[in-house]
Amino acid sequence: MMELEQPDWLEWEQSRLNCFLCNIHRYSDVCLTIGFLYPSLSKSSVVSLKMGKNMMILWLLLRITDDDKKQMRKKSIHACQSTDKDVIKEAHAENLMTNLSNAYASDLLPSKEGEDLTKCFLLRVVNILLHYIEKTFDVKSKILDFHHPHQLLEGLDGFDLELSDHPECLEQLLVDCTDTLKYGVKTGHPRYFNQLSGGLDVIGLAGEWLTATANTNMFTYEIAPVFTVMETVLLKKMCEIIGWRETEADGIFSPGGSISNLYGILVARYKQYPEIKARGMAVLPCIVLFVSEQGHYSIKKAAATLGIGTDNVIEVKCDERGKMIPAELEKNILQAKRKGQTPFCVVATAGSTVFGAFDPLHDIADICEIHRLWMHVDAAWGGGLLLSRKHSYKLSGIERADSVTWNPHKLMGVPLQCSALLTREKGLLGACNQMQAEYLFQPDKVYNINFDTGDKTIQCGRHVDVFKLWLMWKAKGTYGFEVQIDRYMELAKYFYKVLKKKDNFKLVFDAEPEFTNVCFWYFPPRLKHIPESFERDQELQKIAPKIKAQMIVEGTVMLSYQPCGDKVNFFRMVFSNPATRQTDVDYLIDEIQRLGKDL
Ligand SMILES: Cc1ncc(COP(=O)(O)O)c(C=O)c1O
Repeated sequence: MMELEQPDWLEWEQSRLNCFLCNIHRYSDVCLTIGFLYPSLSKSSVVSLKMGKNMMILWLLLRITDDDKKQMRKKSIHACQSTDKDVIKEAHAENLMTNLSNAYASDLLPSKEGEDLTKCFLLRVVNILLHYIEKTFDVKSKILDFHHPHQLLEGLDGFDLELSDHPECLEQLLVDCTDTLKYGVKTGHPRYFNQLSGGLDVIGLAGEWLTATANTNMFTYEIAPVFTVMETVLLKKMCEIIGWRETEADGIFSPGGSISNLYGILVARYKQYPEIKARGMAVLPCIVLFVSEQGHYSIKKAAATLGIGTDNVIEVKCDERGKMIPAELEKNILQAKRKGQTPFCVVATAGSTVFGAFDPLHDIADICEIHRLWMHVDAAWGGGLLLSRKHSYKLSGIERADSVTWNPHKLMGVPLQCSALLTREKGLLGACNQMQAEYLFQPDKVYNINFDTGDKTIQCGRHVDVFKLWLMWKAKGTYGFEVQIDRYMELAKYFYKVLKKKDNFKLVFDAEPEFTNVCFWYFPPRLKHIPESFERDQELQKIAPKIKAQMIVEGTVMLSYQPCGDKVNFFRMVFSNPATRQTDVDYLIDEIQRLGKDL
């Protein structure tokens, strides 16, 4: 048995030892393991990792009994409370003041004796991030400090994007970190409403930091044991929430909703035509799929990528709220068949991107059953609503889908990116995508290789997207997500009611919002009383982009706009930012009026 030499620099600092002892119950497994490995050490032996003046001294006490631990813990609690804090504060302050102009990345760990510098550098990075986080949540701070691309390329106040042959010092890298955030957009700002994904969840952020630190790859259990099992736990949970309790469901986390949709269509095609995998599109008839005219453009992208072709994506008409009309779907399917095309899949949308519409899933499922078509539900945006007992009925029928896209990085506020593709039938993803690369997916491994989930994907390496979601779920519980989502729905209702009363705003849909999307026009005084006409709409078309441009320049608020069909540019408000309060909604309305009144 290898023996650990007792270092001659061993010295006793009771107070610092006490700090450690406060937490000894946490480390007892480690200590006992070390004690087991090095039995020659006496009961009270300590290994001191003594570092320089600036640093904390960490004591590892080996082989102490539980009684010893209890005794010592009791005695030391007070000492710990005072000394531990002081030591940390001192070290922290010193680290933050250290100038790193003469230090380089090559001096950091794993360079010999690089611990000190690494700690100092990372603490400074964390300090920059903390400052940014505080600013993010401060409504008085700007959401962005806008510059044109050419200005960024030319360089701003020493922020130079050009890359050089020689290393920059660590101090410069810290300036670059600060500047990168300075010229970016604070997507967690309470008045950031621009995208479906927004907000800054501190637990999610911690999850992302941990993930980056672990820096592993999701393809095998071998190198991501915790994360791969965590993924199966999350997929199972999400499948249960969808309502696939009775079957053995399956899924995968992918890089975003567009890729999840691509997976859905890929699996749908494979289910119908497994020969595609080896023989390609040439052996298939002219296959077509259906999606509503309000469906996300990623469906067409997927069709283009998969060799199906965008012409073979048939857009189904929607009603005035943006929901697919089932009778139109049926009509389109029959028409396609008459033309000699072969329908294979229908994509229903649960929470459309612009209007937040929910397609009638039961009706669509009935049609899919009659025509034996794969039903994929794009719930990238609306999936989170399943967590609300009050609103989940809007997705009723999703349990009849064959596959579902659900992005926790949208309504659930998980930091980007986090998107799942879930399938009702287990094993299809694997059969469709696996290539059994021998260097990765050896069949004779020491563990259950069913957890080598990487071969289910179209990727090789895959980012760990699950940990932040798992950690947030732990932190909030399912009910925590529910409260957050119900609050967004309340805010949407409030916003709608306020706008309805204002005669210089007009809602795109008169009825109460079904989701957190609220679409509306702003009419400056000069257009307010002009009756609807082509000429008036030509003018109205210019209003939203002009207001948005001003919003960006001033950095006060961010909101998206778009035209849609015969509707000229209108604003789309969405609630998915936990920092947003009613006062921010009031502010937005005032701000639009302020920026738009003279247009
Ligand atoms: C309904 C819908 N599906 C899919 C997507 C694509 O998701 P992602 O941006 O994660 O690729 C979006 C994005 O907004 C969406 O709204």
